[in-house]
Amino acid sequence: MGVVGLAVMGSNLARNFARHGHTVAVYNRTTAKTDSFMENHSSEGNFVPSATIEEFVASLEKPRRAVIMVQAGRATDAVVDQLADAMEEGDIIVDGGNSLFTDTIEREKKIRARGLHFVGTGISGGEEGALNGPSIMPGGTEESYKSLGPLLESISAHVDGEPCCTHIGENGAGHFVKMVHNGIEYADMQVIGEAYQLLRHGAGMEPAEIADVFKDWNDGDLNSYLIEITAEVLGQVDAETGKPFIDVVVDAAGQKGTGRWTAKEALDLGVAVTGIGEAVFARALSSATAQREAAQGELPSGAVATFEDLGVSREDFIENVRRALYASKLVAYAQGFDEIAAGAKEYGWDIDPRDLARIWRGGCIIQAKFLNRIVEAYDRDAQLPSLLLDPYFKEQIADSVDAWRKVVVAATQLGQPVPVFASSLSYFDSLRAKRLPAALIQGQRDFFGAHTYQRVDKEGTFHTLWSSDRSEVEA
Ligand code: ATR
Repeated sequence: MGVVGLAVMGSNLARNFARHGHTVAVYNRTTAKTDSFMENHSSEGNFVPSATIEEFVASLEKPRRAVIMVQAGRATDAVVDQLADAMEEGDIIVDGGNSLFTDTIEREKKIRARGLHFVGTGISGGEEGALNGPSIMPGGTEESYKSLGPLLESISAHVDGEPCCTHIGENGAGHFVKMVHNGIEYADMQVIGEAYQLLRHGAGMEPAEIADVFKDWNDGDLNSYLIEITAEVLGQVDAETGKPFIDVVVDAAGQKGTGRWTAKEALDLGVAVTGIGEAVFARALSSATAQREAAQGELPSGAVATFEDLGVSREDFIENVRRALYASKLVAYAQGFDEIAAGAKEYGWDIDPRDLARIWRGGCIIQAKFLNRIVEAYDRDAQLPSLLLDPYFKEQIADSVDAWRKVVVAATQLGQPVPVFASSLSYFDSLRAKRLPAALIQGQRDFFGAHTYQRVDKEGTFHTLWSSDRSEVEA
């Protein structure tokens, strides 16, 4: 196996391959980085360093397999071209970075025309995952997976003996799925954030107390890596000031773009991924520093309630928040899977959602017990129209919905923002509703733009002559 790009992710991946007994050819544009990699890690396995890309390619066993771990965009393009020039028919170029899936589709087309394979693959789990076992989502041809798959599976995380790696689908499918995975991660982090916000600024609890709540939740249905690290972060004390760590961190969340891509693509596909969208917007708003500073203490709150005004015990409130978190998280995952189904249809991929839930159970940031329930849901019904309709999840929602409504009401009364809790509940109520105001919107569209409408009681397309006698005509 070859690895190009020896920054953190690339070197960890190379070390992971070596630790699993593979001989790893390594190359980095700046040779000093290759030298320092060899100095620090050559004892961990069998590495073959090269100073030029030609030497690197020549050192690979045929069919050559090289994974690129450099910045997405232009750097990836440059390395893909260099590799393609030096490689021969049947060789496999793997892009393991966070490339935009449409770029991957283009690159695959271009590289395939030269007789080579191009595999865009999602790799999740950060630095730690790359080294100790990530969740891997490779696209590209079935044929390329035959030779590449076993290598990738060997270094992936394993859950119940199964590798967290499977062939996702042709060309850009792997990067598409990785993108949505990251979008789901945004929503998952945001719902946890909203729970924290309510316990801290609604119920007035201290970070250390909230850390204990999260520890407790981690023993139940919410058991997950994100809940676990949340407890760690909230329990952390700043050495310099002695204050809770969370209180010395600027509350402006950064983003690298995959959440935003998920939301943009959902708009293009026409899929309602409100949870992910709200999570992306929440990060944007948190970073709108000038606006927030101008608004703080300036915009009227109205008569907000105190926690005591709510007349709920702290214990009950915590449990209600847990249920609201669970339900909102479920909605966000259901929406993410909807986007994957819509993407698969649009781009012609045969993606098995059950496989995704299975390979996300380990190695990645969203790894959680919950994903086992999703696997089971697709086992029961591979054609499930929405995860929310699975009998197990329906029951979970039935158990949570009262608490969820109470929490959204309480947040509103307390004047605390809960964009994903609230929008997920609205999404849920929209999905359930017998009638939506969309009929009114159709009426408005027909009124101002003769956009026509359909009737509930007969076939056809109709228009009302709004500016004359208001009779109806068939359009
Ligand atoms: P990480 O996030 O893991 O730290 P990154 O910033 O995504 O890494 O990518 C950095 C890697 O991309 C480096 O290996 C870098 O090579 P240099 O050490 O020579 O800077 C590589 N890289 C960036 N642009 C490149 C290019 N045009 N050609 C080849 N490699 C490039």
